[in-house]
Amino acid sequence: MDSEAIKQQKAQVGQEAVKYIEDGMVVGIGSGSTMWYMVEALGKRVQEGLNIVGVPTSRATRKHANELGIPLKTVDEVDRIDLTIDGADQIDQNYQGIKGGGASHLMEKIVATNSTKNMWIVDESKMVTAFNYPVPVEVIPYGSTQLERRLDRLDRLDLQPKLRKNAAGEFVTTDSNNYIIDLYLDPLDEPKELAHILDPLVGVVEHGLFLDMVNTIIVQHADGPEVINV
Ligand code: 5RP
Repeated sequence: MDSEAIKQQKAQVGQEAVKYIEDGMVVGIGSGSTMWYMVEALGKRVQEGLNIVGVPTSRATRKHANELGIPLKTVDEVDRIDLTIDGADQIDQNYQGIKGGGASHLMEKIVATNSTKNMWIVDESKMVTAFNYPVPVEVIPYGSTQLERRLDRLDRLDLQPKLRKNAAGEFVTTDSNNYIIDLYLDPLDEPKELAHILDPLVGVVEHGLFLDMVNTIIVQHADGPEVINV
């Protein structure tokens, strides 16, 4: 699929997702380019009178939603989140997800785990049989090079860790001022096994494996959206 077709599907699924937002809801608002379209569409509905409160999952989403006049609260200011809508980097055949390509998975996971329902919206290129996308791991900067080496020594899974850098060669920092180590395993057949390895590691804040977390997936195809209830 060429990048123009992918962009078009992202826009279509972003607009589709807004139909699931009802008056009075508290809505978790994910991050990324697919979500950009959702936020645009949500902004229009709010301007037409839809009454919701949004809980953004990144600085970028907060800024965008703010500019469109969407009322916002933080995750700690609400007593519930009815529905969180977010993008994903890949979704496998068991409906597990990798997120964090945009380095926002820590806040996204916190909002998701505090939500009654979670929906992912993706173009069809994101649906895969087995993951072949790097798994992002948010880590504390202190000791992060040692942690990268340590992950490299855990060669049972051939994790191929790499601290994420920007075009200028600087470490990418998250909204929480942490770094990201990407794990370039290909393919990743056992995401739960990997999550169990990563969870207890000192210095790891959160990884981008979103396991058993989604209720509804909307996959945009060329001929329309497909809704998967998990
Ligand atoms: C950011 C995310 C995004 O949801 C994910 O990277 C998908 O982004 P995009 O819609 O731009 O493809 O997890 O941390």
